[in-house]
Amino acid sequence: MIYLDNNASTPVDPEVADAMLSAVRSNYGNPSSIHAMGIRARTSVEEARSQVAELIGVSPEEILFTSGGTESNNLAVMGLALNRGQGHIITSLIEHPSVLNPCRYLESKGFALTCVGIDGHGRVRVDEVKEALRTNTILITIMHANNETGVIQPIEEIGILARKRGIIFHTDAAQTVGKIPVHAGKLSVDMVTIASHKFYGPKGIGALYLRKGLSLHPILWGAGHEMGLRPGTENVPGIVGLGKACELARRFIPERVSHTRKLTDMLYHGLKEKMSGVRLNGHETLRLPNTLNISMAGIDSSDLLEEIKDTIAASLGSACHSGQRKPSSVLKAMGLADDETLSSLRLSTGKDNTEEEIRDVIEILANALHDRGR
Ligand SMILES: Cc1ncc(COP(=O)(O)O)c(C=O)c1O
Repeated sequence: MIYLDNNASTPVDPEVADAMLSAVRSNYGNPSSIHAMGIRARTSVEEARSQVAELIGVSPEEILFTSGGTESNNLAVMGLALNRGQGHIITSLIEHPSVLNPCRYLESKGFALTCVGIDGHGRVRVDEVKEALRTNTILITIMHANNETGVIQPIEEIGILARKRGIIFHTDAAQTVGKIPVHAGKLSVDMVTIASHKFYGPKGIGALYLRKGLSLHPILWGAGHEMGLRPGTENVPGIVGLGKACELARRFIPERVSHTRKLTDMLYHGLKEKMSGVRLNGHETLRLPNTLNISMAGIDSSDLLEEIKDTIAASLGSACHSGQRKPSSVLKAMGLADDETLSSLRLSTGKDNTEEEIRDVIEILANALHDRGR
């Protein structure tokens, strides 16, 4: 099996797994307990908080742990809206459902909502964001990179717009943290979503960066854990795993960027050489180094994936909503016709892929298409 679905989830790094196993086996105290085992667990949680904070250049007190990207996005959007009580929210058409659906829910409850569009390269139009601003805009939430196309969004420019007007700005960085350098200060953002399983950490754990001084309304109620915003006994092994994944990312991001970029480019050029009608969906350069989204004229990519599913792990669009065969709304927002979106394939490389695997994938895909008369 050649695994090219790293935007859906990544393998857990062996060092992360070792750290987690040791926490599962022997660090079982409750971090809120005042005895030595509790203190040991608390120390591990706080160490992990510092590792996460260091990766994105913020203070440990600004990081809170959640169950993953979905919860961080819900907490950011719902927590801010409930804190303000009313107002206008700006988001984009290409957000993950864990941003779009809370925004739509809030709209149904009386908040105003604007969903801005994207250009043909998959980038949010900053002009549209600017035009959408109102005196009562309370929140802008735009993702850092799109999960389907890997296209990196103009977060710094939007951040400057938001800061000038004192509007809170959240970015869903589930696809960028751990893959490329992310510095919250440079992006001028107030909240950042982090998802551990996208960069060799475990599933079911994530974090939200919440700028010091910014208040959210809780969306879960219980005891006072995580600044009163995320009640429940901490998932110590998960938190330790996320911390370790952040420490490794800090050390290895440059290596991972150049390795995955080399493999992704090799894949793209190899496929273009062997097959006609291959087109890139997304921006040539402003894209995650590991993500390749292509359309193959005249091919039903769902049939193709079904045929190769025991050999190559890839995605049609976003794995989060797989099972439904609807044209990708992200690709449609880019201006692709239905048949072009239905012929699309997302291949996302990771640190463990090899050049040999890429050569094999090119061969397998070219043969499968050849059998379809192409
Ligand atoms: C951009 C983006 N945001 C949020 C999520 C949700 O993250 P999680 O799976 O940790 O809930 C995903 C997962 O695919 C994603 O790609």
